[in-house]
Amino acid sequence: MPIDTAPRYDIYGGIHKGLRLALAHLLLRIGSADFADLRATAELLADLRAQLALSRAHLAHEEAHIHPALESRAPGAGQRLEHQHRHHEVRFEELADLIARLEVAQPGARPAIGHALYLAFSLFVAEDFAHMHEEETVTGPLLQAHFTDADLQAIEFGIISSLTPEENIAYMRLMLPAMTPAERLALLAGMKAGAPAEAFSAVIELAARPMLAAHDFAALVRGLGLGLAA
Ligand SMILES: [Fe+2]
Repeated sequence: MPIDTAPRYDIYGGIHKGLRLALAHLLLRIGSADFADLRATAELLADLRAQLALSRAHLAHEEAHIHPALESRAPGAGQRLEHQHRHHEVRFEELADLIARLEVAQPGARPAIGHALYLAFSLFVAEDFAHMHEEETVTGPLLQAHFTDADLQAIEFGIISSLTPEENIAYMRLMLPAMTPAERLALLAGMKAGAPAEAFSAVIELAARPMLAAHDFAALVRGLGLGLAA
């Protein structure tokens, strides 16, 4: 496959890297969980529920902000994606059902339900990874053919500005550790220039500082020209 060495604005790249990291980490945790440990299981299931809510909301953001733009320039191009999103909805319901069953299961039944949850989640992750791959290899180039980088950036900032402050921090905590230093710096430099100062500073203190390794955080602070202690 040819590789574009002068890449254009990638609307999917950062958030999809964040989702992949979070889903992979959860898959590992569910696979190695001791479902007899009630406290650890409750914590794991709360984290899983929170991640599934973010994954579900991400689909809604694409449907509200990206698909209408895509359809306006390339009619029909969003239909396969919408179909895949509807299929994801079925998976979200199946996972919610397994989580609820595990929460009330008798001790003897917990390992079997936990394993069923592991398998169901692995299938969702596989399907979501394939879906995101299609978005980045098929839909992304199509968007780049029909929109300028500035248009695409405006669509992405439209999504970001539709989030509550808490949602914004939750997505930034997924994305920042998953991105390359250069991608991270570009995203936050854009935010520093365009977002309200309090929102930018919340991202630095509540997402970047706690989620990045000390040397990555220090490099980011230097790159952004911030006078902060690392
Ligand atoms: Fe999608």
